[in-house]
Amino acid sequence: MSQKVLITSALPYVNGVPHLGHLVGCLLPSDVFARFNRLLGNEVLYIGGTDEYGTPTEVGALKEGIPVREYVDKYFNVHKETYDKFNLSFNKLGRTSTDTHTKLVQSVFLELKENGYIENKEIEQVYSIKDDMFLADRYIEGTCPKCGYEKARGDQCDKCGSLLDPVDLINPYSVISGSHDLEVRKTEHAFLKLKSMQGLVEDWIKTRVGWSKVALSIANKWLKEGLKDRCITRDIKWGIPVPDMPGKVFYVWFDAPWGYVSISQKWAEETGGDWKRFWFENDTRYYQFMGKDNVPFHSVMFPAEELATTTKWKTVDVLKGLNFLNFGDGKFSKSLGNGFSGLDAVELFDVDYWRYWLMANSPESDDAEFTFNIFADQINKDLNDILGNFVLRVLKFCRSKFGTNVPENFGNTDVENKLFSQLDEKVEEYNFALSNLEFRKATKALREIWVLGNEYIANSEPWSVIKTDEKRAMTIIHNSIKLIALFGVLSQPIMPGVAKKLLAFVGVEKENLWVNDNVEDFVNSLIVSGNEIFVPDTLFEKIDDVKVAELKEKYKG
Ligand code: 2FM
Ligand code: ZN
Repeated sequence: MSQKVLITSALPYVNGVPHLGHLVGCLLPSDVFARFNRLLGNEVLYIGGTDEYGTPTEVGALKEGIPVREYVDKYFNVHKETYDKFNLSFNKLGRTSTDTHTKLVQSVFLELKENGYIENKEIEQVYSIKDDMFLADRYIEGTCPKCGYEKARGDQCDKCGSLLDPVDLINPYSVISGSHDLEVRKTEHAFLKLKSMQGLVEDWIKTRVGWSKVALSIANKWLKEGLKDRCITRDIKWGIPVPDMPGKVFYVWFDAPWGYVSISQKWAEETGGDWKRFWFENDTRYYQFMGKDNVPFHSVMFPAEELATTTKWKTVDVLKGLNFLNFGDGKFSKSLGNGFSGLDAVELFDVDYWRYWLMANSPESDDAEFTFNIFADQINKDLNDILGNFVLRVLKFCRSKFGTNVPENFGNTDVENKLFSQLDEKVEEYNFALSNLEFRKATKALREIWVLGNEYIANSEPWSVIKTDEKRAMTIIHNSIKLIALFGVLSQPIMPGVAKKLLAFVGVEKENLWVNDNVEDFVNSLIVSGNEIFVPDTLFEKIDDVKVAELKEKYKG
């Protein structure tokens, strides 16, 4: 039965360019999952976009000497170009700097206020004399009072994960100017009364199943420490105005997650789709994807806001938090000067090399490491030696011995029976892993499926058999062509470009095919003797040592 599936990928800050960290952390796994669900016949709403408000954007525009609106438009286009090149299949790629979003966030705030979850308090905030502004939390750094890390941010220590208040930092300084000339000034702000929502969130989280380990442990750590009221307004210009608080805008983490809803509303405006079906009906399955640094806000703060409004919002069912991808000494981050952008990546190699590698190395149980050596090794082995080799060998052999039509099958033997039963098992494993958002396992199962094909042809040796038994050789090639079709179908979520090519080679024109069980019946429905095949010269290109050395030099970690 078709299921309604809502999928959101964390909205990266618009300032800066998307890099492999964003791709591996939320963009690609969510896309693979969306594609998989569509192939299952589910009704999918897949939302992505950019998070555009806040001080980083203001500071970025200042640095480039252009108006903020021009700045966000410019970088939104870089994000869009990157996502297009990575073949991300969003139903809507949106932005948070829209009127729709402003209206939504203001109305959520007013509902929370109405329900008694907002309190105004005069607080002391750090003001930088040199920069002539109140400093947003992340623009203050200093020593973490809990673990002693010297570059802890005002809102969070990246070393020990503690949530901080900027005034807690020891020896703080402005990240903008480096100035230690900071003073604490009084200013009135709105607070979300998270403390009073502790029970609400705890009861809710107990009803969730299937969260990634890292997501659950971060959420529980936060709850165990006890929720604290949180300031949700800021003294900056670039943000959503707070009703009845002139000069104040919302803290970016109060507004950003609501972007999932406002972008769905935009999708509905543009397509006539019904966003409410996804956000207000309980039979929707809602999956969120994000890097681990985003987990606290999605697992506690956003659901708390949703639960505390009068509107009955759909809350996340499965939260997939991912660890980081490391490059050289630190996490992949272009802004930190570590790594390279997504656009650089697709200039270097075919996008499906990246999609495959990033999913095969998805940082699910721990941080993963990118090096050009590991990357080249795996691409050469898996894509060239296993998949590419099988496909080219079969198609070229077919053309040279039997022509460009699928040869006849003169009867499967025990060899094929065993092969298809092994494939049934592996395909089940693959489907199971994809359903459970286990992308490393899924990619491994896919590779093992290719290996079965390789072993089949290597062991049955049609090139020798043909000398004594042409019919048997034809049967082997007939089955091998069916395997190419199978590989094409199964590769669709992870490598949509390669999948298309494989299906075209064996003349499969039908789209949106998927296989859940009985592989033999399935491939029989795709390929019949006599179908025309198309034989390419190459499928993948190997990455040689010279290229690896060149890239290592160019992008030193
Ligand atoms: O960490 C980030 O890049 C945030 N902009 C993610 C926000 S996700 C959602 F809340 F929009
Ligand atoms: Zn710390």
